[in-house]
Amino acid sequence: MDKQQLFDIDVAVRSWFSTLNVTIPRLIEHMETDTKQNRFDLVTNVDRDIQQNFEQFLQHFYPSHQLLAEEKSNQQIDAYHGHVWVMDPIDGTMNLVKQQTDYCVILAYFVDSEPMLSYIYDYPNGILYKAIKGEGAYANDQPLKPPHTMDIKDAILSFNAQVLNLETVKALFDASFSYRIIGSCGLDSMRVIKGQFGAHVNTNPKPWDIGAQFLFASELGLKMTTLDNEPVDFAKGGPFIISNKGCHQQVLDILNDGDGYQK
Ligand code: IPD
Ligand code: CA
Ligand code: CA
Repeated sequence: MDKQQLFDIDVAVRSWFSTLNVTIPRLIEHMETDTKQNRFDLVTNVDRDIQQNFEQFLQHFYPSHQLLAEEKSNQQIDAYHGHVWVMDPIDGTMNLVKQQTDYCVILAYFVDSEPMLSYIYDYPNGILYKAIKGEGAYANDQPLKPPHTMDIKDAILSFNAQVLNLETVKALFDASFSYRIIGSCGLDSMRVIKGQFGAHVNTNPKPWDIGAQFLFASELGLKMTTLDNEPVDFAKGGPFIISNKGCHQQVLDILNDGDGYQK
């Protein structure tokens, strides 16, 4: 794919993102919340409508492109071949429902399994983060710089303490500067990408939670691996870390120490 084609798609997608500034407040005004697997697993009309809206955009402008997304069945998708978009229409739905902030839209474009374009839209703060293959990463068109190298003792770490065993949690607390969790895989990852956090760990992300992070990580020199330090399969998801290169190995060593991090 040549650069101009990629830039043209970026322009079209950013124009789609700008329509959300009108649709999201309207949807929130009439927000309806449902549960999925359990009472903590939430979905709203905002999630469903944003995804439907993007699906229509693809059908209209790029009918041969496939969509792998959270609020649909993905059984027919061959994610490894052709033009594939991976979307989480709202990442941090619990935050949207309970706090009305700290949520984002995650969108990533892959061609034959290679990440080409990535977006994380922090709608409450009006910041569209994007990465373009070979062209770096941006926050509202301002270039992002690779973060400074950070040792674990100077790093804020982000992970879900409820799903790790207590010894691992204590070891991570002891080794790091401090601990924070936003509760949106996209926004927790963005803090790492911007050099505010040292690392974010999620032990059970789905493809749409982490689709955009691959390109931000490669464009800005961050590490993104499984918790066994292997490449992450973008179409499957699974335990992952996005980390400043200065503390990646240190965090993995703690997670894998003794009997590991599982409860
Ligand atoms: C969730 C959030 C949360 C993470 C979960 C995700 P959702 O996404 O990113 O921070 O810990 O693994 O499922 O359900 O709000 O799209
Ligand atoms: Ca999510
Ligand atoms: Ca979601």
